[in-house]
Amino acid sequence: MNIKDTYIKFFEEKGHKYIPSSGVIPENDPTSLFITAGMQPLVPYLLGEKHPEGTRLVDVQKCVRTSDLDEIGDTTHHTFFEMLGNWSLGDYFKKESITWSFELLTKYFNIPKERLAVTVFKGEGNIPRDEESATIWKGLGISEQRISYLGKEDNFWTVGGVGPCGPDTEIFYWRSDEPVPEKHDPEDERWVEIWNNVFMQYYIDEEGNVTELSQKNVDTGMGVERITAVLEGKDDNYKTSIWKEVIEKIEEVSGKSYDDEKYTKAMRIIADHIRAIVIISGDDAGCKPSNTDQGYVLRRMIRRTIRYAKMLDIDINSDWDKCLAEIIIRDYSKYYHELERNKDTILEVLSSEKTKFNRTLEKGLREFSKITKNLNGDTINKDLAFKLYDTYGFPIELTEELAKEEGLKIDIDGFYEKFKEHQEKSRTAAAGKFKGGLAGDGIMETKYHTATHLLNAALKQVIGKDVHQKGSNITSERMRFDFSCDHKLTDEEKKRTEDLVNKWISEGLDVTHVEMTKEAALASGAECMFIEKYPDIVTVYSIGDISKELCGGPHVNNTKELGHFKIKKEESSSAGVRRIKAILE
Ligand code: ALA
Repeated sequence: MNIKDTYIKFFEEKGHKYIPSSGVIPENDPTSLFITAGMQPLVPYLLGEKHPEGTRLVDVQKCVRTSDLDEIGDTTHHTFFEMLGNWSLGDYFKKESITWSFELLTKYFNIPKERLAVTVFKGEGNIPRDEESATIWKGLGISEQRISYLGKEDNFWTVGGVGPCGPDTEIFYWRSDEPVPEKHDPEDERWVEIWNNVFMQYYIDEEGNVTELSQKNVDTGMGVERITAVLEGKDDNYKTSIWKEVIEKIEEVSGKSYDDEKYTKAMRIIADHIRAIVIISGDDAGCKPSNTDQGYVLRRMIRRTIRYAKMLDIDINSDWDKCLAEIIIRDYSKYYHELERNKDTILEVLSSEKTKFNRTLEKGLREFSKITKNLNGDTINKDLAFKLYDTYGFPIELTEELAKEEGLKIDIDGFYEKFKEHQEKSRTAAAGKFKGGLAGDGIMETKYHTATHLLNAALKQVIGKDVHQKGSNITSERMRFDFSCDHKLTDEEKKRTEDLVNKWISEGLDVTHVEMTKEAALASGAECMFIEKYPDIVTVYSIGDISKELCGGPHVNNTKELGHFKIKKEESSSAGVRRIKAILE
């Protein structure tokens, strides 16, 4: 039986429309790196927006959880996992949801009801005990003893603590050869959760206030890996049909056995990471290895995979990684067509990151041994940790892992301090490159730098918002500013521009800055000249509420430090580009 097909067909027959998985990288949500649950892309519809496919939906969503990559390597955790879900958007509620879950599990997945137990919300705060769900379960033949009432910790669901939420009922399966106990014990880990039905009828805000939503929804989530292990009678997810070919391939290329305990963990990590790497780099969002955000997770996973492959004596330069990726692409393209479409990209990401890391891995590992041999005490200092990062491309987590294996610690706070300093430096260097002429960050240059932002904002108000910066050059004597504009400025336009800049100077506006991701900066409407040349984490400078630009600084703290602004010359720079030379006096 194909579990995904069966699940989706079952709900289609109950009037649900199948919707393809959303990308694994959230759209318009700079606060989370990855989609972590099936409901995340559906939040607007849970809040009342009309979904084009109607009020009953079914899907299998690509999810990635990376909060703790260190957990990977046991029998149940995965970086990437798939979540089956069925939704009611203000349509059916508890009765149908529970009844259908029960029907699918017992009639289609053939799980005897005697092996099932459930939990329901016991009631807390001003949200009542969920007697309704308990009554429905009893009506289906689940005994009172197999129903546990639990609190918010266990039976209330929300993503990130803000947004649509509600009590849930979780379904557990007795996974053990021991006789099934009469009574459900939530502490007994032989009861494994297989499905979660959330009754989303509330909204929780930042302060924790709970209000009723305009509609009552159902959101359910069933992890494909877990249910597969249950139905195939395996207590190690990696022994299921999902992983069979991947593990066999790893055994083949390493010449080692998965059942040899020395190698089990490394094989699980390689299998898990390769799958997540394929999914992330194969997403239509086009994620590439980098040093920030999703790209960093990707880089870290690829490098970690290579290191574990090395530990298994896999010939790194052979095409072991490509073979593994191809198995995943083939297996997962049925539901995620983008993998086939983006196959070349996926393989290119893998091979180029491998080449990059390969160049320094050996040397880095040698450096690490040297460091540990010459170490005084048990802590690797910040300079050494930073050197491994900067010179040898070791993600800090990799150094931490290596250190742990040797029973050593790392001055992690010190590392991050150095890391930040380094970032600041490269940002300033980058700013110098973009703005030109900002070689010496002297006082006058700094003032001209801020005046440039004011001039940019003033021209937008006087000429039109289509004015964009095309270039800039600053010395301690003057500023030069090129901008898109199709005509020679009139005297009146020049005067109004000058007056506006001087008005803002006299208003004493504060110059502030914040760091954010490039995407968030653009989404917030910040101006910038060459977006692709900026690092993934950028600094956005604001002057009062009249200017907001991506910029490396430096700037004055307040516009009143600038003095008087005067335009000395306005001329053509090139076709469609005008040039202003101006001074501060
Ligand atoms: N949103 C619920 C979960 O992820 C179904 O468990």
